[in-house]
Amino acid sequence: MSLSVQIPDHPWPIYIIGAGGIVHDAHLPAYQLAGFPVKGIFDIDPAKADAIAAKFGIEQVYARLEDMLQQAPPQSVWDVAVPGAVLPAVLQQLPAGAAVLMQKPMGENLVAARQILQLCREKQFTAGVNFQLRYAPFVVEARKMIEEGLIGTLTDIEVHVTVHTPWQLWKFLYEAPRVEILYHSIHYIDLVRSFLGNPVGVYAKTVKHPAMKELASVRSTIIMDYGDMVRANIFTNHTHVYGPRHQQSYVKWEGTKGAIKAGLGVLKNYPHGEQDTFEYIVQEQGKYGAWKSKHIEGSWFPHAFIGSMAQVMLAGQGKIDTPDNSVEDVIHTMACVEAAYASGEAGGTRIDRNN
Ligand SMILES: NC(=O)c1ccc[n+]([C@@H]2O[C@H](COP(=O)([O-])OP(=O)(O)OC[C@H]3O[C@@H](n4cnc5c(N)ncnc54)[C@H](O)[C@@H]3O)[C@@H](O)[C@H]2O)c1
Repeated sequence: MSLSVQIPDHPWPIYIIGAGGIVHDAHLPAYQLAGFPVKGIFDIDPAKADAIAAKFGIEQVYARLEDMLQQAPPQSVWDVAVPGAVLPAVLQQLPAGAAVLMQKPMGENLVAARQILQLCREKQFTAGVNFQLRYAPFVVEARKMIEEGLIGTLTDIEVHVTVHTPWQLWKFLYEAPRVEILYHSIHYIDLVRSFLGNPVGVYAKTVKHPAMKELASVRSTIIMDYGDMVRANIFTNHTHVYGPRHQQSYVKWEGTKGAIKAGLGVLKNYPHGEQDTFEYIVQEQGKYGAWKSKHIEGSWFPHAFIGSMAQVMLAGQGKIDTPDNSVEDVIHTMACVEAAYASGEAGGTRIDRNN
């Protein structure tokens, strides 16, 4: 396949910590596509590490993290894919100066994110966070079109997700104090930031559902505040159990001269998914023609995961100064998430009932 993201000519070996669902479904398929060598894997559940290593032909399964730490050469990438709550403890064990790609979220809240950032600075890691939606082929294409000025000045980004998400697949979420924004909408917050930079503020409300009472929240509305001229809204509803007909899952960018709409098939009709779509409309000679479709090679899962790993490798090798998805950048995504929860807790403007 043709990759529209920069990848290293000589990829470093990868050592994986955590052999869970996302490593199986996305990391390893992506690395196979990109030709990134995976040399070792460790999980506290050895059976999971064994099974995944057998399926993807990983050279070595380690029974102890210490052994993997000892045997890995300095020019490697540590690919950490454990639940957010245990992330700091794992990072603490990695060698100073290491190249690290950690799964999102960067800790369970902004306090933890700041501690992780501090740890990364102290240990002089080249560290990135796996906000891979930035590198999904349809996002890369949209970014290129926007940078080329095809749709004029960006005025609006809308993310709309109405699907049925099988949260039961992620047992650790049942104990997590924060769920929807921290574990899902965070991707869209990060995506919006990657186009519009940091907002001045965030308004949000995130709610539970009677059928999933154990989960802290499963539906969110988030407004990222970019002032009076730009709108950035995220709507997610993971409890639409009424079949595929009215499920929705898209990112739409609108500009002064056109618009782009990317349909994210992976979230719909789970686990089968649907085809992605990519459509755009542009003004030509003062007039809008019809919407056009474009075929985009590759999807969010797994192709986007190539980009986030490539950034860490390129930075580790000195080919770029810092990963685009560096902890120094992503801390601002975590700050937006924190602001979203704070906004929800503060509540909306109270209505004066003395009318
Ligand atoms: N970027 C994405 O799109 C995306 C998607 C799904 C999950 N994730 C993130 O990836 C992380 C893992 O998610 P998952 O879906 O694979 O979960 P999972 O529950 O399937 O897997 C987690 C794995 O980590 C292992 N583990 C726990 N503590 C460990 C430790 N100290 N050392 C080694 N292994 C340990 C568990 O045994 C388990 O195998 C989460 O933080 C989640 O937010 C990211």
